[in-house]
Amino acid sequence: MNILLTGGLGYLGSHLAIELLLAGHKVLIIDNLSNSNIGILSKIKKITKKNIFFKKIDLLDKKKLINFFRNKKINLVIHLAGSKSVEESENNLIKYYNNNIVSSLNLLDVMNKNNVKNIIFSSSATVYGYPEKVPIKESHIKKPNNTYGFTKSIIEDLIFHMGKKKLLNYVVLRYFNPAGFHNSGLISDKSKGIPNNLFPYIFQLIKGKFNLLKIYGNNYNTRDGTAARDYIHIEDLVNAHIVSMNLFKARQKISFVFNIGTGSSTTVLEVVNAIKKYSNIHIKYKFFPRRQGDVPEIYNDISFAGKKLKWKSKKTIKDICLSLTNLLKKKKDIK
Ligand code: WQD
Repeated sequence: MNILLTGGLGYLGSHLAIELLLAGHKVLIIDNLSNSNIGILSKIKKITKKNIFFKKIDLLDKKKLINFFRNKKINLVIHLAGSKSVEESENNLIKYYNNNIVSSLNLLDVMNKNNVKNIIFSSSATVYGYPEKVPIKESHIKKPNNTYGFTKSIIEDLIFHMGKKKLLNYVVLRYFNPAGFHNSGLISDKSKGIPNNLFPYIFQLIKGKFNLLKIYGNNYNTRDGTAARDYIHIEDLVNAHIVSMNLFKARQKISFVFNIGTGSSTTVLEVVNAIKKYSNIHIKYKFFPRRQGDVPEIYNDISFAGKKLKWKSKKTIKDICLSLTNLLKKKKDIK
């Protein structure tokens, strides 16, 4: 298939591009490089020994997007592009409306005008907001409690509406916390600035950029008082996107939403202890007040993806920690 990855040089996009290329697909990537690094392109080529089409395009530049789609035979769009910091979204609503909603609207419009009807949208389980019950099923009410989650929910609704009007076949994947690295040790998370997310922050800390992990809150009603999340290994998440593609082989209308995760949660302290146990790295930490907008515990019920996609996560926190050590070791070997 000819597959367009928007945001394809990002953390998930680069890992997904590798697997799609190795599976024999033709992959086209557009990315505005606002939160990714052009150097990743050569790493993808080195790992896959395949050619890849890349164009630096911001989805907000509709004219460029229209020209890009001209005379391209795109069978499927996997839409990953967008800003994804919960904290930043709370202070930059209009930036997130533009970067996520307006840009997605441009993409959907240009897809429609070029009769490209198949999309996999990489959404986020943040659309659920505070969980009424865990584990979370796809039927759980959507009530995002931050701007990032709000924008993801709006994009989903645009896709659902176009699906109802028979203008789109779609799969929406809602996941929480991707983590870990490709086993080649060549691809790491090149997000820019100080990472808000736990694993990227810990990765930078281990590389010496910081010397202390601030643990936000240790009085939650969880196993050890620190907040619990559903950390999914990036390779499992990539696989969920790939198995979703099989649904488009059928001729009938495709409209699915899947929760993707491990179906279990891990607390912040359990992450710290796992890194000690499996990577033999001691993370210095200090407890700080809770972070605004955080919830005590949240993780997905992945039974529907198991039933319909025959997909379930295979990797654990241990594999995430080992992939981190592997990456650090490979980086040292390269130096
Ligand atoms: C995890 C836990 C923090 C950093 C958000 C989005 C989600 C996805 C991932 C895009 C929390 C704690 C963190 C630190 C800490 N985004 N923490 N110290 O907030 O669960 O999810 O980012 O796909 O959709 O909602 O992820 O990694 O920021 O935090 O104690 O320095 O780690 O309080 O409990 P989060 P996170």
